[in-house]
Amino acid sequence: MIPLFDTDTPLRPLRGEVDRAITRVLESGRFILGPEVQAFEAEFADFVEAEHAVGVGNGTDALMIALRAVGVESGDEVVVPSFTFYATAEAVLAIGATPVFCDIDARTMNVSADTVAAALTPNTKAVIAVHLFGLPAPIGDLRVLAAEHDFKIVEDAAQAAGAKLDGVPAGSLGDAATFSFFPSKNLGAFGDGGMITTNDAAVAETARLLRHHGTTNKQLHTLVGYNSRLDALQAALLRVLLPHLDSWNAHRRAAAARYESAGVGEFATAQAIPSGSEPVYHLYVVQLADPAAAAEVLAAAGIEARSYYRTPIHRQPAITGGREPVSLPATDAVAAQNLALPISPSITDEQVDAVVKALAASSASA
Ligand SMILES: Cc1ncc(COP(=O)(O)O)c(C=O)c1O
Repeated sequence: MIPLFDTDTPLRPLRGEVDRAITRVLESGRFILGPEVQAFEAEFADFVEAEHAVGVGNGTDALMIALRAVGVESGDEVVVPSFTFYATAEAVLAIGATPVFCDIDARTMNVSADTVAAALTPNTKAVIAVHLFGLPAPIGDLRVLAAEHDFKIVEDAAQAAGAKLDGVPAGSLGDAATFSFFPSKNLGAFGDGGMITTNDAAVAETARLLRHHGTTNKQLHTLVGYNSRLDALQAALLRVLLPHLDSWNAHRRAAAARYESAGVGEFATAQAIPSGSEPVYHLYVVQLADPAAAAEVLAAAGIEARSYYRTPIHRQPAITGGREPVSLPATDAVAAQNLALPISPSITDEQVDAVVKALAASSASA
């Protein structure tokens, strides 16, 4: 059996350290925020080369809080891709703003300056640049657009902890960035967790207020915020894992290179990696004519594969409300043709070769 991702094997050698971190928190009696969260915030800020990091309850709250912290208000428009996890757009709606869906570049599966430009209006307050499947969105190009049209850039880096663009880590490329520590992420907690990073002290201060009922002292509430704080236990455990993230990501990159050298390109089209991008392959996603048939052949060979975002957000019933969805042809094509193949910090060359062999068999039987 080759699983789509393997969250268990990489953690096994760390079991002793994990146990010690749990004991440390249990004995401290501090379970929400506190010194563990502060220490993890400092270490994570350092890791993404951002000046500030604010630990929150999950990646969805991180988006809601970051959007409000950069100044998005009820009624504003926020440009978002539709080919992403639902939470990217849900967070916009949850703060009373309006998501305006933009298309993607079918090769990178990410937004581009052109697809974002086509969705801008005088009411655009922000753009959410999702680093999809761990590949950085083209933030340099978006910055040029942002300077012309005066909007903020929020990176949705939920899938991209450790990725870089032109040597700059995801997390310090935009006006603010958000991370999810959902267990299957490249840096996954033992439950929910999230982070906002920014180089803007005012954005960080607002985010700190918003995560904690709009107050710093439990007496005076200056904003209507949320209860969205990172647990000390999750922070302590993430502190054990963070030092290993770079080597786990390097293993994922080596596995992606192995897919390529094993000839995956003969049977499917991999996510295109623009020059200057250092992706972290949260998922290894290819496009092929009939992903459902390929997944069946792979399953018969004991290989797990899955299509993502088959119904992209602009077609979700909660979003359309029965109206005709906007036209996003590249999004629809990639939603129909993508297939995620196994990748993880523990996958072996032999396993990658077996996946490519099964794909070859599936292509021969098509
Ligand atoms: C791109 C993207 N954005 C946002 C989220 C939301 O994160 P969470 O599940 O921690 O709320 C996720 C992950 O689940 C995601 O993949």
